[in-house]
Amino acid sequence: MIYDFSRPGRGCIAVDELLNFTDQHVFVAGGTSGINLGIAEGFAGAGAKLSVMSRSADKVDAAVATLARHGNAAAGFTADVRDFEAVSRVLAEAHERFGAIHVLVSGAAGNFPAAVLDMSSNAFRAVVDIDLVGTFHMLRAGFEFLQRPGARVINISAPQSCLPAPLQAHVCAAKAGVDMLTRVVALEWADAGVRVNSIIPGPVAGTEGMARLAPSQELLRAVEQSVPVKRLGTVEDIARAALVLASPLGDYINGAVLPVDGGWSLAGFAAVMQRLGSQLAVEGGAR
Ligand code: NAP
Ligand code: COA
Repeated sequence: MIYDFSRPGRGCIAVDELLNFTDQHVFVAGGTSGINLGIAEGFAGAGAKLSVMSRSADKVDAAVATLARHGNAAAGFTADVRDFEAVSRVLAEAHERFGAIHVLVSGAAGNFPAAVLDMSSNAFRAVVDIDLVGTFHMLRAGFEFLQRPGARVINISAPQSCLPAPLQAHVCAAKAGVDMLTRVVALEWADAGVRVNSIIPGPVAGTEGMARLAPSQELLRAVEQSVPVKRLGTVEDIARAALVLASPLGDYINGAVLPVDGGWSLAGFAAVMQRLGSQLAVEGGAR
């Protein structure tokens, strides 16, 4: 229970009432695996109708089957966030199916560890195009399908947005752009009644991102020890933050960039990437 500020003197309101998304339409770009699928499941469990989109039809089908187990409607779409026309088409189809979008999550991303001198122009551009331009596409094409007023947009950022790290120039540049896009769009869309925020997940267990940046048990343990609360995050940790941000509990949060990382962004990330660099050099694996 939580004190109900909207009804002074009338006591408390159940938190699960505030976190109830029944009949709301939640669209998650990149929502077919890892953290983004966890976020989609969080909203599905809270009663929402879900649309998820990514490139692989197999991943889309599997994600829809997972989401359907929560008992609410779920639909999947294939598109590459780099393709503005394809993204626009998918958003229109999702809108046709489930109505106006109440919560738009933009989380598609790509990452691989590589030093600047081991990266081609196309390699750098691939990540910037997916993470940053892709987020622009989701928001730019998504606006017309948002529930206005009232919609909430959540961009999935990363610690690299504010912490420089070796082997991560492409992601650092792209995610820094995502956070600035969040802030600018929060300003521009406030009048339309749309709130826009970023979540910065910390290192999350069992995800593709962690598999790429901490590919050995030794590195994984080093990451875990570098988190002030001494554990890796879970997809549920990130999903809970997304639910709060999108709920009436987050009504006055706009343009925020919220780390959900056990304090990891305060320290630790650069040291881990230095270690990965040494390991790749020893293995002769750096390209
Ligand atoms: P993941 O499982 O690989 O999720 C990425 C998702 O994006 C997948 O559904 C993927 O599906 C989709 N995707 C990739 N490129 C796409 C494109 N061009 N167009 C459309 N969809 C695309 O990775 P994750 O580790 O869970 O990361 C999810 C998000 O969290 C990312 O934004 C990442 O930067 C952020 N993050 C992760 C961590 C971590 O510890 N893992 C930490 C901080 C931030 P398809 O392959 O089917 O396209
Ligand atoms: N080191 C250096 N360059 C690399 C690389 C690496 N480890 N991996 C890929 N590249 C380069 C490729 O060589 C290519 O450059 P080139 O054309 O000059 O040769 C460029 O990056 C694009 O690669 P490509 O495989 O054609 O791109 P794609 O669009 O099919 O895939 C990626 C995008 C590379 C980001 C791919 O890893 C991906 O799809 N990732 C999604 C999943 C993911 O990263 N999850 C974690 C999220 S945190």
